[in-house]
Amino acid sequence: MIELVQGDITEQRVDVVVNAANSSLLGGSGVDGAIHRKGGPEILAECRALRAGQYGGGLKVGHAVATTAGRLPARWVVHTVGPVYSTEEDRSGLLADCYRNSLRVATELGAETVAFPAISTGVYRWPMASAAEIALRAVLDHHPLRTVRFVLFSSAAHDTFAAAWREISGGAGL
Ligand code: APR
Repeated sequence: MIELVQGDITEQRVDVVVNAANSSLLGGSGVDGAIHRKGGPEILAECRALRAGQYGGGLKVGHAVATTAGRLPARWVVHTVGPVYSTEEDRSGLLADCYRNSLRVATELGAETVAFPAISTGVYRWPMASAAEIALRAVLDHHPLRTVRFVLFSSAAHDTFAAAWREISGGAGL
């Protein structure tokens, strides 16, 4: 089942919250800042351990890795690195990989419910309508979980995702 909600991803009571991280895995602003701020230092401690281990070079764009969710009402955070929007290069495959790989990692964890932000649509400047279509198609194609919830931070973002959903699903409601 796919859900669109307007709200704060750090408040979602789900198994997995997906973080719009950067390659350093060491925090940032936006979703990344909110998750680390509310989730607490345990999340950063695990991110640092990942950097000291197999992610010495950082997390690649489109890839995903899980840590504890710390104090968030979730069991895990899956960190993924979205592509920065480019008008010269089509990076839509990398953006779709963020959703596909996050779902794969969530499934491997045994998660049944996953909350996604609108990856790359903030600091990384990806236009919302394009990002919504890529996200919804990626999830529709690789949707082995009980619930995938898109958590949109504004009513405008929510409306854009809803319009993209109507386009993709041929008008079906969610
Ligand atoms: N809950 C849900 N959505 C949120 C929240 C929140 N608490 N905070 C921000 N957003 C929305 C933004 O409005 C935007 O639509 O999440 C979307 C993604 O924005 P960013 O968090 O800026 O992520 P992104 O565009 O992928 O850029 C990633 O920003 O924070 C840094 O460390 C991060 O370098 C990385 C870059």
